[in-house]
Amino acid sequence: MFKSIGICSVCLKDMPIFQPNRRIFLEMPDIDCRKNPPFLIILVTSCRDQIKTRMAIRETWGKERVVTDKRIVTFFLLGSPSHYQDGFTIMMESLLYKDIIQKDFLDTFYNLTLKTLMGLEWVHTFCPQSSFVMKTDSDMFVNPLYLMELLLKRNRTTRFFTGALTMQAHPVRDPRSKWYVSKEEYPWNKYPPCCSGAAYVFSTDVASRMHIISKKIPFFKLENIFVGLCLSHLRIKMEALHSEPVFFVGRIEFSPCRYRRLVTSHFITSVEMLLFWHGLEKSIDEECP
Ligand SMILES: *[C@@H]1O[C@H](CO)[C@@H](O)[C@H](O)[C@H]1NC(C)=O
Ligand SMILES: *[C@@H]1O[C@H](CO)[C@@H](O)[C@H](O)[C@H]1NC(C)=O
Repeated sequence: MFKSIGICSVCLKDMPIFQPNRRIFLEMPDIDCRKNPPFLIILVTSCRDQIKTRMAIRETWGKERVVTDKRIVTFFLLGSPSHYQDGFTIMMESLLYKDIIQKDFLDTFYNLTLKTLMGLEWVHTFCPQSSFVMKTDSDMFVNPLYLMELLLKRNRTTRFFTGALTMQAHPVRDPRSKWYVSKEEYPWNKYPPCCSGAAYVFSTDVASRMHIISKKIPFFKLENIFVGLCLSHLRIKMEALHSEPVFFVGRIEFSPCRYRRLVTSHFITSVEMLLFWHGLEKSIDEECP
């Protein structure tokens, strides 16, 4: 669908070259939160090449929906591709779907912290009227309806943070590892307790609190650890959303009854998102044991 917009070389020549300016958003969603604030904003880290996945998310769990007066919206977090022609493609996609939050930083694994901070800054600046925020990845299956149901049941509105708790981890000191961290970057032997970066959910005031405190905390390249550092400075503890686990950081095999009662399942392809979502919708009236 998206490919049908012809991109002409004339337009490309006239494109402004992006000036590096971290304060300015290159792309933003078209939403006025003062008028009609969403209950839940789902922020999905994504990158330029994942257009197929973004399309699948838009058609399935990320589709904007209103359930009992409460609105759920999904936006994608992107950095800047190194080639400005790719920047143009993202501009066109943003114009069409109005669901992209983008700033000018290089889109790399070690800039994931910047990507998440950009999402927090956007919520803090443009949508503090929302109630909850979820941060997740583009290879996740999310059941936003069950998440909303549990958030309403939990009835917490401030200083609330939940997700998949991880064991307190130690920094990896082997330079060959993807998670290598030098003593200069992090001198201590233990990380703060936190969550898997794959999916976590918090009340919107926590987005503002983290955005503000993040300026006082030394930058750390591992995103979930940085979030953990922010939370320990804020003295906010992770809490369970439900008496049973609902955030899965591994892959859960699909069955309608299983997926009705989970919030996330990991390592899901765009084709599977469509299959699973339609499977869920089709079985809506079926009884589960
Ligand atoms: C993160 O983005 C900045 C700004 O574009 C860039 O200078 C830096 O090299 C990036 N860092 C990494 C680790 O990729
Ligand atoms: C939610 O909590 C508030 C107080 O924090 C209480 O007044 C209200 O009755 C609760 N609502 C539900 C549905 O439990």
